[in-house]
Amino acid sequence: MGVIVAVDGPAGSGKSSVSRAAAAALGFGFLDTGAAYRALAWSVLEQGGDPEDAAAVERALDGFAFESADDPDERWVRVGGVDVTDAIRTPRVTAAVSGVARVPAVRTRLNEGFRARLAAAEPGVVAEGRDITTVVAPHADVRVLLTASAEVRASRRAKELPDEDHSAVARSMAERDAKDSRVVDFLEAADGVTTLDSTDLDFDGTVAALVTLVREAAGLEPVA
Ligand code: CDP
Ligand code: CDP
Repeated sequence: MGVIVAVDGPAGSGKSSVSRAAAAALGFGFLDTGAAYRALAWSVLEQGGDPEDAAAVERALDGFAFESADDPDERWVRVGGVDVTDAIRTPRVTAAVSGVARVPAVRTRLNEGFRARLAAAEPGVVAEGRDITTVVAPHADVRVLLTASAEVRASRRAKELPDEDHSAVARSMAERDAKDSRVVDFLEAADGVTTLDSTDLDFDGTVAALVTLVREAAGLEPVA
């Protein structure tokens, strides 16, 4: 079995971008679990379902065929062969995803797929989300909670969405984190999980800190 690196954290902490870059630096695979929840929310909307209605969500789950790139240098997400890489990042999907993610059958089904991906990863994988350190892979070789202050997280996300109102972005992030944290706790580090606070770190500094943590914890050679 390869080295499993689990990274959790709130929206805008840098989980996806930092984990992807760290995976590339380590020569590992990459798994963005949030993309699977987003893809299911997209499917529910595509079928005309209400993402707050568990029965509609379970209908979309039936036959849900999610695929995403293992290679951190690739960036595609597909559902039933349809490319949804950009479609799953729209504000409409973002607003729908917490409703979908709280349905227990969804979490059970998606977790099975995530665990199969982790078990197959060679020489390792960086998997990121909300419950990777606690539920999906509590025995991962390296477990990290990536955090940053709410102000810094909101301004990072607002920079990516220049056409949207900054305070609306901050509000919607805070609402989503509040909803999500009722389902899984990603605001406090669980026992044995290392907190990496990126509030005062730039992107490259955060990636370097994660790579160093992985090399130390997994007993890999440091970079010369
Ligand atoms: O990147 P961002 O923080 O905006 O969100 P994401 O990682 O793409 O996750 C989207 C949504 O999926 C979250 O708001 C959660 O509702 C859900 N999610 C989850 O419940 N469990 C995970 N392991 C990952 C994501
Ligand atoms: O996945 P998550 O929502 O946690 O965050 P992300 O989408 O990976 O990162 C949000 C933005 O913050 C991206 O544009 C990153 O490049 C940026 N970022 C940063 O500016 N400084 C950091 N130390 C970490 C991330």
